[in-house]
Amino acid sequence: MKFNFDEVIDRRNTDSIKYDFAKKLGKPEGVLPLWVADMDFRTPPCVIEALTEKSRHGIFGYSQTRDDYFEVLKNWFLRQFGWTIRPEWLVKTPGVVFAINVAIRALTNEGDAVLIQQPVYHPFSSSVLNNNRKLVINRLVYSQGRYTIDFEDFEDKIVRNKVKLFILCSPHNPVGRVWTREELTRLGELCLYHNVMVISDEIHADFVYPGHRHFVFSDLKPEFSENTITCTAPTKTFNLAGLQISNIFIPNRDMRHKFKRELSRIGYGDPGIMGIVACRAAYEGGWEWLMELREYLTDNLNYMRNFLDQKIPQVKLVEPEGTYLAWLDFSALGLDDNALDSLIVNKAGLWLDPGPKFGAGGEGFQRINIACPRSTLEKALAQLEQAVRSV
Ligand SMILES: Cc1ncc(COP(=O)(O)O)c(C=O)c1O
Repeated sequence: MKFNFDEVIDRRNTDSIKYDFAKKLGKPEGVLPLWVADMDFRTPPCVIEALTEKSRHGIFGYSQTRDDYFEVLKNWFLRQFGWTIRPEWLVKTPGVVFAINVAIRALTNEGDAVLIQQPVYHPFSSSVLNNNRKLVINRLVYSQGRYTIDFEDFEDKIVRNKVKLFILCSPHNPVGRVWTREELTRLGELCLYHNVMVISDEIHADFVYPGHRHFVFSDLKPEFSENTITCTAPTKTFNLAGLQISNIFIPNRDMRHKFKRELSRIGYGDPGIMGIVACRAAYEGGWEWLMELREYLTDNLNYMRNFLDQKIPQVKLVEPEGTYLAWLDFSALGLDDNALDSLIVNKAGLWLDPGPKFGAGGEGFQRINIACPRSTLEKALAQLEQAVRSV
């Protein structure tokens, strides 16, 4: 490998949410953190060089993106997913969660119903509730270690609640599904039929394990494209979350106009220059790094699967098809969620994300982030084994 993902980089005392805020966030000092979704790997050298060059220039005035930025995005999405984007679709925001909130405010009114599929990334529900919209949940179905969609319930919930907007997580955090073309098409058809607009959060699209393929939801049919806001970002892919840049694509002119109007009401103007520089550099020169990273993550996943099978078979891995997050089923231990948390934090000395954080259906699960050097994962799993054996 050209890039050294085995290197353990000390992230303490770097203002990292993952490493420097245990006590503030109610955890004992010294827990090994495998929670929030950023990586313990250094971003690709091409990004560091571009940011360094910009720093040396030393002027950080108001900035905007030029044509070359769009060209780089265009090439990336075409190469990765065969998706052809158009310049006028692009709206930049300082994050996907920010964009989801803006979209909810732009496309719905207070009291309107918004549908999500739990268990799911927790800011989906808080974005709906914080904006005084009605939260409607289509629960994913967990059967024989795999999650699927209950389409009848999906439609029923839409009709009963007069749902206006659906927030899709694709690939899905935390259950790791990479939805198939058939599943996405069926969701899209139901949304079209019932006049439900779609926000498709595809921030994890670059992480798909061998044997699976990510489809851009909006690109499956021209009608879907006209009905969808697609949220993308280089931040998960290249470990740039602290630089706050996301690229949102809105082909429908009316939806885009409403989205932009809401952005200006909030007072958001130009993007941060370091985010622009990093995004362009990453999409331009980060391909090879990403390909190696994906191999490394696949090996981490294989390591974890074998470890759990052999050493702690009571803990079941829900096989992820994408994302660097894995959803672990602890239900065989027979603990309630407080006892499970205590086991993970106090006995295993680990900081994971407790399942209930992701809403209905999260009970008995924990989410683990495997985007770390192998030695960190080995340590974490050994600590987990010790703790589980003590139950
Ligand atoms: C599905 C999903 N959407 C959005 C985000 C966060 O995006 P941002 O930092 O751009 O708000 C995450 C981070 O974990 C995520 O998993």
